[in-house]
Formats: sequence, C-alpha cells, structure tokens
Amino acid sequence: MKVAICGALGFVGTRVARDLAAAGHEPLLLDVAPRSPHPLAETLLRRHEFRRCDLTDPMSTRIALAGADAVFHAAALGAKVERDRPWETAHLNLMGAVNVLESARREQVSRFVFASSAVVYGDRFGTTAVAESDPRPPATTIYAATKAAGEDLVAAYGAQFGLSGLCLRFMNVYGFQPATMVQRELTARVLERVEAGEPPLIFGDGSAAFDFVHVDDVARAVCSALTADATGTLNVGTGSATTVRDLVELVLRETGSGLAPEYRPGGASPTTLRADTAAADAALGFRAAITLPEGIRQTIAEFRNAAEPCAA
Ligand SMILES: NC(=O)c1ccc[n+]([C@@H]2O[C@H](COP(=O)([O-])OP(=O)(O)OC[C@H]3O[C@@H](n4cnc5c(N)ncnc54)[C@H](O)[C@@H]3O)[C@@H](O)[C@H]2O)c1
Repeated sequence: MKVAICGALGFVGTRVARDLAAAGHEPLLLDVAPRSPHPLAETLLRRHEFRRCDLTDPMSTRIALAGADAVFHAAALGAKVERDRPWETAHLNLMGAVNVLESARREQVSRFVFASSAVVYGDRFGTTAVAESDPRPPATTIYAATKAAGEDLVAAYGAQFGLSGLCLRFMNVYGFQPATMVQRELTARVLERVEAGEPPLIFGDGSAAFDFVHVDDVARAVCSALTADATGTLNVGTGSATTVRDLVELVLRETGSGLAPEYRPGGASPTTLRADTAAADAALGFRAAITLPEGIRQTIAEFRNAAEPCAA
C-alpha cells in the first residue's frame, strides 16, 4: 500500500514512515522541504519517494497526493507555537486538513488517519481516564480548536463522501527530538538541559500529570490504524498518568545526574490526563508496550548517539 505521510519529516511522521516501510508498505514522504533536523529523515529521504508540498495550497496538496492509497495526516503547528503564531497555527491546521481531505477524496484514497490530540479533552481535574465517548468541552486554545475541527472534518468527509477516516488522539508523545526541532516536547527539553549540566526547569509545582506515550508506540498505533477499518476517534496512550515532577526525577535518575530541578512560577494547571485505552485495544488491538523508564532510557541513548559525532 502506498501511504502518503503529510508532515513525514517530523517527530511522529519519520517513525511512521520507517515502520510502514519495515512492514512492506510504500511510504510517500510529503513535507515543505526535503530536510529535517531529525537524523532518521536523512535515511528516509535516501530510500523513499519525497514530494515537496505546501499543504496550505490546494493544488500543491492535490499533486502531492496523486496515486496514494492511504493518508496519514500529521502536519500541524502545535501547542508550543500557537501563542506566538496563532494565525499560522489556525491556517495550517485547518486549511491543511481541508486540503488533504479534499485531495484524498478526489484521489479516491481508501483510508485516512488524522493525528488528533488529547488537547481536545481540555483540562481535567479528577483522576478518571478520558474516554472517546466523553463530551468534548469548548476549546480554550487555538490548537485545541483546530484539532476538534479536524476531527469533525474527518467525520464529515466520512458521512458525506464515504471516506474511511479515523482520528487518533495522541496523549503526550515523547522520544528523541533533536534540539533544533522547533516543536520539542517536555522530555526532550528536560533531557537537553540535564545533558548540558543545567538544572531542569519545572514551572509551577510539577503536580500536573500526563499520559506520556513513547513515539514508537504511537507509530505502531498509526500503522495499525492505516490497515484497519475502524472509524471515529481513538485514544493513543498508556492509560497511566505521571506528574511532571516524577518525569523530571526519572530523567535525572536515568541519566545518572546529580542535579536537582529548579522550580519557576507558572506551568500547567493541575490537570491529570490519562487515556482510557479500551477502545483502541478493541478496535486496533493496540496497547502501549514501552514503559516510561524503558522509553526514557531509549530516548537518552538516542540523544547521546546523535550527539556523538559532534563530541568527537
Ligand atoms: N508530539 C506530540 O506530543 C503530539 C501530541 C498530540 C498530537 N500530536 C499531533 O501529531 C502530529 C505530528 O506531530 P509531530 O510532533 O510529529 O510534529 P512535527 O512538528 O515534528 O512535524 C510536523 C511536520 O509537518 C511539516 N509541515 C509544517 N507545515 C507544513 C506545510 N505547510 N506543508 C507540508 N508540511 C508541513 C513540518 O515540516 C514537519 O516535518 C501533529 O498533527 C500534532 O498536532 C503530536
């Protein structure tokens, strides 16, 4: 199966492309430019077809998607940039989704998987797991609004045009991200500071808790979703919540660092967000397999491996 990956050279897209190729599929790499700070991107670009496109442009998107059997739409601006670039975030996330869906319809693509996010659940103050059937609260950020709209568009293209679409609500994805990547997650930012001998920063008291899921588990869920026929929305998480404080302590322990975290004002509201994983298990047979300590160790190893040539 030829799978167009929109945003193929990013954090999640690179892992999905690698795993699709390993499973015998043909990844078609779509991104704004044939370069990425991610080391995996270089290998992918050598091995697989790349089509340069701007997903905010309908014609560019249509040409790029030609001949694809399935689509994984991952290109978006996220929570890290929306405050400074709200227009660009809304424009790429909304128009990009519309253009990719419309091109998929015209190209008669048989399967569509959309990268949604746990942000659609908003802030949660209890410890109950969030389930796909929970009511979606009104969005409080541009990013959350665009992910909710993306989910609705996928549902509408399914209802009106029969496009088989599934939205995956990723929880907090972590794993190795080079320091030059703009949209780096908490774990990557904490690890960078620790490896540079600087104390990791915790904004607020660090009691906010999230469902940290390793990017390799996320890629496995996406690959299953592309070949399944489930529609609607599914959570992709581990089912467990870890506080920011515990995550930072884990990174410090696994790196063997003697540093202590530095607390600063601000930070996330005292949310506890963890996924109910039953629906993804039932529909895709997906269960996260990488424990947080294992995933952190793998992330540290990849970080150190990527740093090696520079250190030599
Ligand atoms: N990383 C997380 O923790 C997380 C959590 C929940 C949901 N998600 C969602 O998963 C998806 C993938 O996230 P990621 O972390 O891999 O993001 P990323 O920023 O690493 O990758 C996004 C890719 O999209 C490309 N892109 C940007 N603008 C484009 C355009 N106009 N045309 C074509 N390509 C363009 C970028 O060049 C980049 O390679 C996103 O939709 C994100 O909202 C991520």
